[in-house]
Order: sequence, then structure tokens, then C-alpha cells
Amino acid sequence: MKIKSVELVKTIYSKKERYPEPLNGEFVFVGRSNVGKSTLLNTLTERNIAKTSKKPGKTASVNFYKINDLLYFVDLPGYGFAKVSEKERLRWKQIIEFYFESRFWNIKMIFLLVDGRHELQKNDEMMIDWLKEMDLPFSIVLTKIDKLKMSEKSKMIRYYRNLFGENYIVIPYSAVTKEGVSEILKLVEDLGGA
Ligand code: GTP
Ligand code: MG
Repeated sequence: MKIKSVELVKTIYSKKERYPEPLNGEFVFVGRSNVGKSTLLNTLTERNIAKTSKKPGKTASVNFYKINDLLYFVDLPGYGFAKVSEKERLRWKQIIEFYFESRFWNIKMIFLLVDGRHELQKNDEMMIDWLKEMDLPFSIVLTKIDKLKMSEKSKMIRYYRNLFGENYIVIPYSAVTKEGVSEILKLVEDLGGA
């Protein structure tokens, strides 16, 4: 899939705001704070459009990026970040839940990002249970894979593929080497049209 145009069309901070028209579906990036969701969006689009940071807690809203006037990439706030206030954490949780409850019918694929250096965390498990309960389609993206040595990398890929079995796609990815990028774009193309 060739990405010709990218436009941030809607940023949602609260339950009161309206979502954009559905177009041909949406692809969502979810995961813990700092795992690399906004960076993945930038890598896929080859643009520096989503704000990223070394520090967790950067994305604080639901952001709809219109791709090729055809579909959306949706960048969400991360979960599991202890350093923001209780009130702010609750607001994030609510906007993430509200997003899924409002738009589940238009979601073509959720990319659940996990840090490829670590085993699955408790809050990822909770997110996965919730996605399964809602019967939403998701694939696993192992981020920051460039930070691993060859032997560790194979070990972690094996760990995640065993954990998720045949029913879920596990894609090792790196924003640095661009490994996994064409596989993710192919999935988008197959599900959303070019
Ligand atoms: P929140 O918005 O806070 O939830 O974080 P996020 O998941 O959007 O993470 P973000 O894209 O802001 O990236 C966090 C940090 O990880 C940044 O410093 C990125 O440069 C770095 N990063 C993201 N992906 C990769 C990767 O594949 N490899 C390496 N080495 N660094 C990465
Ligand atoms: Mg972000």
C-alpha cells in the first residue's frame, strides 16, 4: 500500500466530541505508554505527523489520521503509565473505552503494540481479555526489536508466537530498521483497500 496523503482530521479529548464519518474503516494502535504507537504511525506514513517522546504519557487524546482519503489510522493514549495523576489516568481510560465502545463497528484491525524486549505485562493481558470479550480483531506488533541481539530476538518472537498461537498474527517491528513495516502495510491494504 502506498500512502499518498495523511491528514489529522480529529482529536478527541472527551466524551462530548463527535467522531468523524466512518469512511472505509479504521486501524488502531494501542499499547502501554512509550511502547511506540505514535512512532509506528509516523513510520508507516513516512511523515513526522504524530507527536512522540522519550518520556511516557505523550499522547493524551484519540487522534484520527485520514489516510489516502479512504481510511483512518487511530493513535490512542497509552495505558499503564503510573506518573500521571489519578484523575488524568481515569480520563485516559474513559476515552480509550469510549473510543472502542463508539467505534467497534468500524474497526478493521487493532495493532496491539508490546515492547519486544519484555514478556507480556499484566495490563496488556487485561487489554487483550477486553478486546476478546468485545470480539474485536487484533494483531500483535513487537516494537523496538532493533534493541535485541539476534539470539534474544528469536527467543522473544518464539515466546510471543507460542503465547498467541495460530489465531493471531505476531509481527516483529523496528522503527529504526523498518523491519515489519511492509507486513503491517500489507495487512492494512488487504483489509482496508489501497
Ligand atoms: P505514549 O503516547 O506516551 O503512549 O507513547 P507511544 O506509545 O506513542 O510511544 P512513542 O511513539 O512516543 O515512542 C516512545 C519512544 O520510543 C520514543 O523515544 C521513540 O523514538 C522510541 N521508539 C519507538 N519505536 C521504536 C523502535 O522500534 N526502536 C527504537 N529503538 N526506539 C523506538
Ligand atoms: Mg503516543
